[in-house]
Amino acid sequence: MIKKCLFPAAGYGTRFLPATKSMPKEMMPVVNKPLIEYGVEEALAAGLNEISIVTGRGKRALADHFDTNYELEHQIKGTDKEPMLNDIRRLIDECSFSYTRQQEMKGLGHAILTGQTLIGDEPFAVLLADDLCINQGDGVLSQMVRLFKQFRCSIVAIQEVPADETGKYGIIAGDMIREDLYRITDMVEKPAPEDAPSSLAIIGRYILTPDIFDIIRNTSPGKNGEVQITDALLQQAKDGCVLAYRFKGKRFDCGSVDGYIAATNYCYDQFYQKNNGG
Ligand code: UTP
Repeated sequence: MIKKCLFPAAGYGTRFLPATKSMPKEMMPVVNKPLIEYGVEEALAAGLNEISIVTGRGKRALADHFDTNYELEHQIKGTDKEPMLNDIRRLIDECSFSYTRQQEMKGLGHAILTGQTLIGDEPFAVLLADDLCINQGDGVLSQMVRLFKQFRCSIVAIQEVPADETGKYGIIAGDMIREDLYRITDMVEKPAPEDAPSSLAIIGRYILTPDIFDIIRNTSPGKNGEVQITDALLQQAKDGCVLAYRFKGKRFDCGSVDGYIAATNYCYDQFYQKNNGG
């Protein structure tokens, strides 16, 4: 079954400058945990313990985060601070981590293709850590892995967005299979509201079958001169089948300041305060 989860994390994070000038966007903390750690927790909960990260220049903090810091551990051993490392220690123990570098930031599609060397010839998940997804029950990737077992084709997570926000997303059109599931018939990257085929937007969770790599390789740069995963997925949908799944749970766009603040407030109330006697 699916064991690998790819984290494209090479982007510049320009919406968050200057914070992201020398720090990876994926290391920005929501309360006291970096975005990427929430993502790896979600992947592990879905049974995906082989973590593959596409990095770029200035992203070394990502690899350091998923490694042991002996000096720090020695320093806090036996103190009341020690349990604060329990969650990250568990991830380091239970997951394997591998890295590759995207040399030029040529878009999400290109970043996923860069990850082929880590993924090989098997179905895999893709998680964009700046989309923080939270659900009381199963996480979004767990929901999607379950669907994959049934349908065995690529699946994208979707969410209804306000009409004036279609320009921020890949937007799908599809035939409804059931209330929360569509078979994709069309996809447009960042359309103006009047050109959008619906208001169903793709968010940062995918399950992809490995034939996507050859399709991306043959996909010309699209919007903004970047190789768009949306264009490759549309080709895959035309050749066979791609599903769009309206997931259960909340999603915060932590690549934007507004979404990041909303996520911070939500997580502080829901997790931090409750766990710390608030
Ligand atoms: P975004 O467009 O949200 O990220 O890409 P960005 O480019 O880092 O941020 P802004 O728009 O400049 O603020 C979605 C995801 O794809 C990755 C990003 O790291 C992010 O997780 N990505 C994007 C790459 O890994 N490589 C790329 O060439 C582009």
